[in-house]
Amino acid sequence: MAKRILTLNQISVKGLERLPRDSYEIASEFAHPDAILLRSHKLQAEEIPESVLGIARAGAGVNNIPVVECTRRGIPVFNSPGANANAVKELVAAGLLLGSRGIIEGLDYVAGLAGTTDASWLHQELEAHKKQFKGSELRGKTLGVVGLGAIGSLVADMALTMGMEVIGYDPALSVDAAWRLSSQVRKADTLSAVFARSDYVTLHLPVLDSTRGLVNSELLGAMRPDGCLLNFARQEIVDHDALLAALETGHLRKYIADFPTPELLGRSDVILMPHIGASTDEAEENCAIMAADQLRDFLENGNIRNS
Ligand code: MLT
Repeated sequence: MAKRILTLNQISVKGLERLPRDSYEIASEFAHPDAILLRSHKLQAEEIPESVLGIARAGAGVNNIPVVECTRRGIPVFNSPGANANAVKELVAAGLLLGSRGIIEGLDYVAGLAGTTDASWLHQELEAHKKQFKGSELRGKTLGVVGLGAIGSLVADMALTMGMEVIGYDPALSVDAAWRLSSQVRKADTLSAVFARSDYVTLHLPVLDSTRGLVNSELLGAMRPDGCLLNFARQEIVDHDALLAALETGHLRKYIADFPTPELLGRSDVILMPHIGASTDEAEENCAIMAADQLRDFLENGNIRNS
């Protein structure tokens, strides 16, 4: 009998193709599904039918899945670590550039010039104003990378190619990640050492009890004045009261994150993106393929990977 896969988000066709139609029925509604395949749907424990044997997320973080309840019920939860790492890394590169150059202010200013027809006036106008959009270069600056997993290690390499000094910190560095890391990435022994020595700090950690609120007033206070914090991981890792205090005193120059939160909207010292780190065609395909392959291997052979 065909296995029933309940999809709770739109899943890339390339991933669904890994589940052959003669062996799998795939639909967004089923009374008794064998498995659930999802992306960012916030899954509630009571939404998981008794018949479900496994859950796969086409994405890295599993904080939208009630993992504790799944474990209690013996339901393995699979994710797709690394499958969207390149997409996130590229957005972090954009974040670094937005933090170092007057790109946003400059674009806003140019947008305000719409309708101008006088080229010579425009030239004079730009000459008079462009000084205010001056930034600084990334080359020679220090980037602290907190979390050296699939994403963090790619970010470290990218920053090296931009001529940045890179300090990394990961208390649980995997053997795979250690092999991937360039020897030019210096390892810090403590988290506070990374914050103290970096011009830019970028976070690449999952949200766990041990990482929730990890970036607190002490760490932010240890940062170089004029520092810049990038968070393309999860908003819960940063204590927002401490963050606002660091911004208010001007100790932190900019916070650049991939999720808008109400208390940060509208601030000129904050750049917020709408959680698009993994929103590329390639990342969605890679994640869907990885998630579907794991589900299939589990349902057909009982194998459990990335759970
Ligand atoms: C992930 O966990 O894979 C990324 O944050 C993207 C997402 O949540 O969709």
